[in-house]
Amino acid sequence: MVAFKSSFVSVVAFAASALAVGPAPSQIKNLVTFGDSYTDVVSTGDGGTAWPVYAARDGHFDLFPFARSGATCSNNITNRPFPSVFESQLPLFFAEKANGTLRLNPTNTIFTLWIGTNDVGAGALITGNGVNGATIVDTVSCAINFVKTMYKSGFRNFLFQNMIPLQKTILYSADSYPNRFWTAPRNTTEWSVTMTELTTGGNEIAKLMLQALPSTLPGAHIGLFDSHALFTDMLAHPQVYLNGTAPLNITGAVRSCVFPEGADPSDTSLAACTIATGTDVDSFLWFDELHPSEQADRVVAREVTAAIQRKSSRWATWFS
Ligand SMILES: *[C@@H]1O[C@H](CO)[C@@H](O)[C@H](O)[C@H]1NC(C)=O
Ligand SMILES: *[C@@H]1O[C@H](CO)[C@@H](O)[C@H](O)[C@H]1NC(C)=O
Ligand SMILES: *[C@@H]1O[C@H](CO)[C@@H](O)[C@H](O)[C@H]1NC(C)=O
Ligand SMILES: *[C@@H]1O[C@H](CO)[C@@H](O)[C@H](O)[C@H]1NC(C)=O
Ligand SMILES: *[C@@H]1O[C@H](CO)[C@@H](O)[C@H](O)[C@H]1NC(C)=O
Repeated sequence: MVAFKSSFVSVVAFAASALAVGPAPSQIKNLVTFGDSYTDVVSTGDGGTAWPVYAARDGHFDLFPFARSGATCSNNITNRPFPSVFESQLPLFFAEKANGTLRLNPTNTIFTLWIGTNDVGAGALITGNGVNGATIVDTVSCAINFVKTMYKSGFRNFLFQNMIPLQKTILYSADSYPNRFWTAPRNTTEWSVTMTELTTGGNEIAKLMLQALPSTLPGAHIGLFDSHALFTDMLAHPQVYLNGTAPLNITGAVRSCVFPEGADPSDTSLAACTIATGTDVDSFLWFDELHPSEQADRVVAREVTAAIQRKSSRWATWFS
C-alpha cells in the first residue's frame, strides 16, 4: 500500500512536470542558437559581443552557436548567398549530432531561433525577390518548420524570437539615407510602410502558428519571445535600457555611414561616417543602419535568460 502510494505520487509528479507550461526554472543547461547576424557570435552584428555569449554567461548555459550572418530561413524561399538555417545551419547541426561531436540531452537543452530580418529585407521580400512568388507566409512557415524538424529529431524545448520593428532601423525608416546595406535609389516611405506590414503581419502569423503547434507536438515546451515588444519598449523608454555617456540615441547608430546615392556600398572611402566610441556607444539602440547595439543585445540576453529560467514572463509566452 505504501509502495503503491509513493509510486502513484511520483507518477502524478512526473505527469505534472511533462504537462507543465514552459521548462522548469533550473531545467535548461544547454543553449543552442540559430539565426542570422543578430545572433552570430563570430561575425557579430553589434560591433561587440553577441547576445548568446552574454546569455550563456548570465544563465550559466553551455552555448552551441549555429547562427550565421546574412542567413534567411531557407534559400529555397529567399535566395541569398549566405548560410541559411535549412540549407547550412541545420545540416551542420545534424552532421555534428550524427558523428558524436554534439551530445545534447533533450530535457535540458533549449533551441532558440531568431530569423526573419533578411527574409523580409532588401534583396528578399521587400524588393520582390521571393523565389517563385514566395511571400511572408512562406518565410514564417519555414521558421515554424524549424521547431517541427527539431522535435522530430527528439528535442523538446524551443524559444522562438520574433522580428523586431525593423521599420525603426535606419535602413527601413522613412527618413533613411543611402547606406552600406542599400545605396540604389528607392522610395523610403514605401519601404517603411511595407516593412511595418511585413514585421507586424509576419509576427502575428508566427504567433498563431506557434499556438497551434502543441497539439501536434506533445511533451514539447514551446515559447514565443516577443522581441518586437521588447524593442518597442526600448524605443519608448530608452532611459530604462541604454546607459552610455552620450545623449541617448534611438534614431542614429554607433557607426552611421552616409553614402552617395548609387555608390558602390563596399567602397567606404565614399561614405561620410559618424562613429561613436568608448562609453558613448552604450547610449545607442542601433549599432549601424540594420543591427541592434551591444547594449541592446545585453538587454536581449538578460531577458531571454530570464525567460528560459522562468524568472520573468514579461516578454515570453509559453504555449506548452
Ligand atoms: C529546398 O528545395 C529542395 C529541392 O527542391 C528540397 O529537397 C528541400 O526540401 C527544400 N527545403 C526546404 C526547407 O523547403
Ligand atoms: C563531425 O562533423 C562535423 C561537421 O561535418 C565535422 O566538422 C567534424 O570534424 C566531424 N567530427 C568527427 C569526429 O568526425
Ligand atoms: C513614395 O511612396 C509614397 C507611399 O506610397 C508615396 O506617397 C510617394 O508619392 C512616393 N514618393 C515618390 C517620390 O514617388
Ligand atoms: C551598461 O550596462 C551594462 C550592463 O547591462 C554594462 O555591462 C555596461 O558596462 C554599461 N555601460 C556603461 C557605459 O556603463
Ligand atoms: C544620434 O546619432 C546620430 C548619428 O548616427 C547623430 O547624427 C544624431 O545627432 C544623434 N542624435 C542625438 C539625439 O544625439
